[in-house]
Amino acid sequence: MIVPVILSGGSGTRLWPMSRASFPKQLWPLLSEKSLLQETALRARKLTPAAPVIVCNEEHRFLIAEQLREAGIESSRILLEPVGRNSAPAIAAAALLVAETDPDAVLWLMAADAAMLKPDALVAALQSAVAGAEQGKVVTFGMKPTRPETGYGYIEVGSALPDVEGVFSVRAFREKPDAKQAEEFLKAGDYLWNSGMFVFRADVLIREMEEHAPDVMAGVRAAYAARRGDLFFQRLGGEEFRRIPDISIDYAIAERSSNIAVVPADLGWSDVGSWDALWDISPKDADGNVGIGDVLIEDAKNCYVRSDKYLTAVAGVEGVVVVATDDAVLVTHRDRAQDVKKIVDRLKKEK
Ligand code: GDD
Ligand code: MG
Repeated sequence: MIVPVILSGGSGTRLWPMSRASFPKQLWPLLSEKSLLQETALRARKLTPAAPVIVCNEEHRFLIAEQLREAGIESSRILLEPVGRNSAPAIAAAALLVAETDPDAVLWLMAADAAMLKPDALVAALQSAVAGAEQGKVVTFGMKPTRPETGYGYIEVGSALPDVEGVFSVRAFREKPDAKQAEEFLKAGDYLWNSGMFVFRADVLIREMEEHAPDVMAGVRAAYAARRGDLFFQRLGGEEFRRIPDISIDYAIAERSSNIAVVPADLGWSDVGSWDALWDISPKDADGNVGIGDVLIEDAKNCYVRSDKYLTAVAGVEGVVVVATDDAVLVTHRDRAQDVKKIVDRLKKEK
């Protein structure tokens, strides 16, 4: 059985003012009338009938349960964290949950906040990944890098694994390299970007965590043992969970383990990390503009304009992002879309 595990813990700060801690980007309908979370869950549903496991902050439980129901995902298991401790504890908790009833299950881990423009390519890629996982590997999906991005993980691809088609060994995994290293990886040609999806057997992940991040795994076991559950939600033990070190699966396992494999795949994947990234993958008019909501665009080029409430007009500008919500308006240049994070940091400090 392939069990989808969807992580919905990030807050997507670079998509302010839409994305907020209380209503993060994965819950917004950014690319279609469905939210990224709904699209992710439906993408999984197409490929496996198993009820998904969602790991999220307890603050978002009702929003998430409601969105899943609205998307027609009637059964799911929702694991609640009292605070975010990054992806490794979230994944380890999901592995314990699934292993309890089905230790041989293969988990398909995905982020709630990524877009996939070529989902058809997933069918073959997932099949390969599951075959690799059944042989005891922790399988990643690798995409061809197009720029020296420092926010991703880089996978150095080795040789093809025997007996499983489309799966390759991994010589090294490097999470978030500095700009110089990223440049070198891009030039070297045998590095792929890590998509953030992983496929592995529940028992294999638990073993890897025990070997490479024993303190994290011990903390997760304690929080899991102290969980309280009802019909809809499983709440991890709060005190125990808070004590767990903050670490992502990329640093905890992918960089440390020699048991990682990769399936190279062209999935049309985007992490929808910024307004510029969103502009890039959204449908545009003949002038390259994206206009969503009550907007008016006059003689402008390559702009992203979105308004949820007020009529918002732009004229005579190029490459500009304007996002207007109920209580905040952002104006920036697409080239500076990364700086939105600075605004959010200031708001956190000053307000
Ligand atoms: N439940 C839960 N709790 N989920 C979390 C938490 C947490 O504390 N922290 C992060 N996540 C979820 C996010 O919601 C997202 O779905 C996923 O884990 C990845 O976390 P990010 O914080 O977005 O990671 P990243 O973008 O810096 O890096 C990862 O993704 C890249 C691709 O987008 C890495 O896996 C990179 O190697 C990869 O290239
Ligand atoms: Mg991310």
